[in-house]
Amino acid sequence: MIILVTGGGGPTGQAVSEHFRERGHTVIAVDRDDVDLLDRAAVQDLAARIEKEHGGVDGVVHLVGGWRGGKSFAETSLDDWDLLHDLLIRTLQHVSLAFEPHLRRSPDGRFVIVSAKAAERPTAGGAAYSAAKAAAEAWTLSLADALRGTGSAATILVVKALVNDAMRAANPEGRFPGFTDVRDLARAIGELYERPAGDVNGIRWDLTQ
Ligand SMILES: NC(=O)c1ccc[n+]([C@@H]2O[C@H](COP(=O)([O-])OP(=O)(O)OC[C@H]3O[C@@H](n4cnc5c(N)ncnc54)[C@H](OP(=O)(O)O)[C@@H]3O)[C@@H](O)[C@H]2O)c1
Repeated sequence: MIILVTGGGGPTGQAVSEHFRERGHTVIAVDRDDVDLLDRAAVQDLAARIEKEHGGVDGVVHLVGGWRGGKSFAETSLDDWDLLHDLLIRTLQHVSLAFEPHLRRSPDGRFVIVSAKAAERPTAGGAAYSAAKAAAEAWTLSLADALRGTGSAATILVVKALVNDAMRAANPEGRFPGFTDVRDLARAIGELYERPAGDVNGIRWDLTQ
């Protein structure tokens, strides 16, 4: 399969890329240095280039993230909202709009975002982050509706937080309760291909349970 990992340069992207490469798939991992996902034309070009070079795409794992929050609801910075809107919503819009036609053509495609428990349980200081993740989820469910019956699926994975080896090395005493290891996240994304598209399309899969 041809798997695109957007926001793929960090530890999470590396774990997801490794998972699919180890199983013999072609992974195209892109980061900001390769393509600015806030540039819609550049994302469209990326989709056209992948179509030309690989004949299509079977998976898009969208991993762009970021967090901002305040001490209280009243202190929420709307500059934080602007930033989170770009990171969590606008990049998703560009990627999903560019790749939906390609996923429709794949016999067994998957589109994945990683959302946060905070979207369903917002805290006073986390209004901007929670609302941005909730919007990203709603957008992804619209994509799922577009993919219904095509053989492809869009899925929301839900975590409280992610943990990787570098975080563990930096804090050897840390317990990271309720965190999802990036390797377990990668395995869960792989499992989406073991279930029929219709069973995983438009679902929120809570990895904390
Ligand atoms: N980390 C957590 O605890 C947690 C919790 C809940 C949900 N999630 C979600 O899980 C996913 C992965 O999380 P993460 O912490 O590994 O993500 P991340 O490090 O915050 O973001 C992943 C990558 O996205 C890239 N990126 C940002 N803006 C971009 C742009 N305009 N164009 C291209 N690339 C861009 C970043 O590159 P640069 O470094 O070059 O900016 C970064 O390497 C995200 O969707 C996040 O929202 C994470």
